[in-house]
Order: sequence, then C-alpha cells, then structure tokens
Amino acid sequence: MKKFLIALVMAALPMAASAAGGAKGHLDEMDVDLHNQASLQRGMQTFVNYCLGCHSAEFQRYERAALDLGMNPELVAEHLIFGDHKVGEQMTISMDKGDAGKWFGNPPPDLTLEARLRGPDWLYTYLRSFYADESRPWGVNNAVFKDVGMPNVLGPLQGEVVASCSWEEMNAHGLRGEGIDPLTNKPLTTCTSVKKGTGELSTEEFDALVYDLVNFMVYMGEPSKLDSQRIGTYVLIFLFLFFFLAYALKKEFWRDVH
Ligand code: HEC
Repeated sequence: MKKFLIALVMAALPMAASAAGGAKGHLDEMDVDLHNQASLQRGMQTFVNYCLGCHSAEFQRYERAALDLGMNPELVAEHLIFGDHKVGEQMTISMDKGDAGKWFGNPPPDLTLEARLRGPDWLYTYLRSFYADESRPWGVNNAVFKDVGMPNVLGPLQGEVVASCSWEEMNAHGLRGEGIDPLTNKPLTTCTSVKKGTGELSTEEFDALVYDLVNFMVYMGEPSKLDSQRIGTYVLIFLFLFFFLAYALKKEFWRDVH
C-alpha cells in the first residue's frame, strides 16, 4: 500500500510542476487543430512572410512542411521561399546573431521549438498583446512579456493598441479585459482600445490570422505528431481485431484440456 501511495505521488508530481510554472498572468486560450490543413498552410505563409526575417526555424525543412501540410513542394519553392534557399533546406536566416543582439537587446531566438517551450495559449496571447508604449525603443510593450525587445511586426494588421491601465493589470486580466474577475466575479472591464487605419484586419480576422500562425508553430514543434496520431488509430484497430483472433486461438488450445 505504501509503495502504491509513493508511486501515485510520483505520478502526480509533473502535473504539480507544470501547474506552478505555467501560471503567468492571464492567457487567452486557443484550441490547436493539427488536422486543419488550410489553417496550417495559412500559418506557414504568415510565418514565412512576417517572422522568418528575424527568427530562424533551423530544425524545420521547407519540403517536410510542404508535404506534411499537403502543399506541392514546387509551389512552396516558388512562392514561400525568399532568397537562394532550396526546398530541401532548413528554414534558416542570414541575420547574424551578434548583430541582432546589438540591434534588439536580445537576439531573436530560433522558433522551431517555441510552441513546446511556451505553449500555444501563451503564443496566441503574446502575438495579440502588443500595445503602444513610448518609453520603449520600438514604441511598444507586451502584456505577457514585459519590456519585450521585439517590434510589433503584426501591428499594421492589428492596428495600434492603446492601453489605459498598468502593465500589471493588463498582465493579470488580459489585454482585452475579457472574462470574469476571479475575485469579484464580475465581468472584467477593457483597459485597451484599438486604433484602426485603412487596409487593416478586423479583430476577428486578426485573431484568426494569429490562430493559424500559432497552429503552424505547434505543428513545427512536433511535425511527427500528425503521423503518430494516424498510426495510433491503425494500431488500435489492429489490436481490436487481434483480440478476436487471440481469443479464438485460446479457445481452440484449451478445448482438449477441459
Ligand atoms: C524585426 C525582427 C523580428 C521579427 C520580424 C519578429 N520577431 Fe519575434 N522577436 C524578435 C526579438 C529581437 C525577440 C527577443 C525579444 C526579447 O528577448 O526581449 C523576439 C522574441 C520573440 C518571441 C519570444 C521568445 C521567447 O520565448 O523569449 C516569440 C514567441 C516571437 N518573437 C515570435 C515571433 C513571431 C511569431 C514572429 C512573426 C509574426 C516574429 N516573432 C517576428 C524580433 C523579431
């Protein structure tokens, strides 16, 4: 019994650890859907157009992504690869890490495994949580990443976000103040507003764009997940059928014994 209890505690430990490390301000949730190929394709397009200028994805090859996401590698080579990369190569960039460190304070990290490091909810919130802050070098701050060194590259699509409460409040309640305050049980008030210009996306369109982008980043963090889910289904079907075979065989063997 004692051993059983120890085993139970050990099994529950990782859960406690992730719960302690995970809670950092308010995060908007998103449901990752790796079966939505159209979303993953749009996400890759956004990633290549808006992120690959500064961030590499060194462990991801263009060709593998094209094949996994149901795209023709030749079309990907034609439309999604800038510079002299070949479709079989990794998604590297030519920006020097040392220079980038000087320009931005911190160099832009490689993003191949970022979704596994931070989790999809954090990414989804981070990319939608930049707001105007004149005291920062790029004129923006971020509600989940205080004093971030990254400029708001999706700003022209989202529109300028103006904040009317402190960073701590936004971090605790989320940039849009959505949801229910756990202390007072009342709906949260919004502490930001979005100034739009022309040619920008609506809030829903922008959220959808970031959703697709994060979906793609989750795929990139574990490209074989799609395969393993598919193979897993076959394995379960096989085990189900094999059960009947094994059972019939057992009956046959034991018939003479009884
Ligand atoms: C102009 C260069 C630039 C572009 C373009 C850019 N980033 Fe960044 N990004 C940075 C820099 C610099 C940092 C490091 C910020 C810091 O540590 O303060 C960063 C940090 C990040 C981080 C946080 C990393 C971490 O865990 O500490 C994420 C996530 C991220 N970027 C995602 C993206 C995505 C997604 C895109 C495309 C929409 C993008 N970035 C486009 C420069 C850029």
